[in-house]
Amino acid sequence: MAEPKTNELMEKIVSLCKRRGFIFQSSEIYGGINGFWDYGPLGAELKRNVKELWWRSMTQERGDIVGLEASIIMHPKIWEASGHTSTFSDPMVDCLLTGKRFRADQIEPLSGTILNFVGAADLASFRQLEEGQAQPERSPAWSRPDCAPLLRTIFENYYSSTDAKLGGGHLGLTGERQLQAFQNLVAKGIFQSASIQPFSVLMVPGKDQKYAYRIAREFYQKRSVADPIVIHKSSEPIENTQRYNPENGSLLTEPRQFNLMFKTYVGPVESEENVAYLRPETAQAIFAQFKNVLEVSRQKVPFGICQIGKAFRNEINPRNFTFRSREFEQMELEFFIRPDEVVEAISSRIAKGSEIGIRNSEFGNSDWGWEAWHKYWVEQRIRWYESIGLPRATLVEYWQKPEELAHYARATVDILFKFPFSKRDDRGELAGEELEGIAARSDFDLSQHQRFSGKAMGVFDEELKVAWAKLDEATKKELGRRYHDARFKYLTKSGVPAEQAAQEAKADADGLAKGQYIPHVIEPSAGVDRLILALICHAYSEDQAPDEKGKLESRAVMRFHPRVAPIKVAIFPLLKNRPELVRKAGEVRELLRPHLTVFYDEVGAIGRRYRRQDEAGTPFGVTIDFDTLGEKGPELKDTVTLRDRDSMKQERVEIGDLLPLLLEKVR
Ligand code: GAP
Repeated sequence: MAEPKTNELMEKIVSLCKRRGFIFQSSEIYGGINGFWDYGPLGAELKRNVKELWWRSMTQERGDIVGLEASIIMHPKIWEASGHTSTFSDPMVDCLLTGKRFRADQIEPLSGTILNFVGAADLASFRQLEEGQAQPERSPAWSRPDCAPLLRTIFENYYSSTDAKLGGGHLGLTGERQLQAFQNLVAKGIFQSASIQPFSVLMVPGKDQKYAYRIAREFYQKRSVADPIVIHKSSEPIENTQRYNPENGSLLTEPRQFNLMFKTYVGPVESEENVAYLRPETAQAIFAQFKNVLEVSRQKVPFGICQIGKAFRNEINPRNFTFRSREFEQMELEFFIRPDEVVEAISSRIAKGSEIGIRNSEFGNSDWGWEAWHKYWVEQRIRWYESIGLPRATLVEYWQKPEELAHYARATVDILFKFPFSKRDDRGELAGEELEGIAARSDFDLSQHQRFSGKAMGVFDEELKVAWAKLDEATKKELGRRYHDARFKYLTKSGVPAEQAAQEAKADADGLAKGQYIPHVIEPSAGVDRLILALICHAYSEDQAPDEKGKLESRAVMRFHPRVAPIKVAIFPLLKNRPELVRKAGEVRELLRPHLTVFYDEVGAIGRRYRRQDEAGTPFGVTIDFDTLGEKGPELKDTVTLRDRDSMKQERVEIGDLLPLLLEKVR
């Protein structure tokens, strides 16, 4: 089948999500609320499966990661330490014409010609003044000695048009004297309505002056100028500007920073000291609880703490269905590692990124520094996406450029998924949008919490203490110097005065000999909702399937990997008016239900029932027919047909074999 166009495809996906109960608009009966979504019965199952698989892969399937479930509202100092209070903001702009809000950095750069306007006056007043110059003594404005010179300045050299073809009235005033005269006349109140607010319109290729005048007139009309004649000052070409609304060419406001954290108050008094925030990420709770978890879990660095939970961001422009929401869930891991100087002290070397056979190696070696661990986690995370049905070819491994990195980050890889709404690159390929970021964040986070809370965030590492004692003096000096310099850099960048920073960095470097250091961290941080959308987009397909009479009809089918599919198996008695079939189907349902999500359906023709489950993404269908009852011979008694959603092939399976067979397929 021909591939549907991107927008058409997204429309079909959004429509299927609603129709089949994957995702609904939040508060829909009240007109919805922008940036918030609800998951219906199928969506809720899909989400639970994904979170369960992530949790299992992080905790149960390995011994070096433990879980945490922290509160959403935390002490506001946490957000000061993390930098969110001061820097977690996006530049926001509004369209001066419609008031529509945009993120300034996401506006499409445009080229064209700008038309600059200095104000507008109502057309009726302007006409009266224009006519008045013929007989000034009979005109109240022209006969005023304070107005006549100003009017002469304007009317001795101007052009005007009230030509409807040019989008209504406009007046060209170019000299500074004329502009000043207009402003003075407005101040003297000789127009019934007027504005001296500057405005401009971008004319992109394909738009003409008439269009720009119309936009300017609408702008001044909204500022209470009746039937405005707009005052055009100048025009100029411009390239790649982000200062204009791509939808209508109107000038935007100056960008202003907008903090994305949702604010609330703890307790009954709405005062500054009771301000708290809904967490914008789950990660910070992990850092804040680092010492508690370390103490109780008997883990040693390298080890990780993971968490799944809600996060909230007051996004300026929620968009692309659930992709950018204001309430969403994250699955985050903070994997704590030894600083490179410690690795080198213990192993005498740091394994280079290129020599690490990460694909074949499950767990890190003692000579792995941050680069190896980072590479390892990028690979692990891609493998996990593959295991739940997103092939590597649908993902992009994007290494952030040095200028894109946060100042404390050593490297960040974004795992992108090629969503149907992604932009296309120069070769016409979908460029992809971020599903997950994997950042090597140095020791920034724990160091910040140490400074802000006054509580030590370092660890004691027996292996380091033993190894350090055996190092020669030159190596101790070299490793100590490198550790000192990194600590000094962090402290001074964080605003600690140089003298104090030097003392603290020296104490930190001296700590190495005692086996003490602040761990570094690798952070794989994924969004659950974006992943659900990626799975839905990837699963959606259309093909042809035969109906009851064998005639081909189109079907929408959600090809979820059986591991994530919301319903694993559907049970169909061939006919609902044959009690023996219904009874047997009930038995099969009860056999499978304790182990798998099962859906029982006896309504409608069997082809229709298959179609309904294809749209729900159910990978297997079990039909109980007359053969099952042994009506066509004893050899088929107690067998059922097992239908595969993707191939539509059917095989005959003994009821006794059904459960182990299905469990193997869905695990
Ligand atoms: N602790 C690091 C952190 O929060 P992030 O890149 O801001 O990093 C991590 O967020 C992931 O959370 C993103 O890759 C994305 O999957 C998800 N995410 C972030 N903002 C989101 C939003 N507004 N709507 C849905 N998911 C979002």
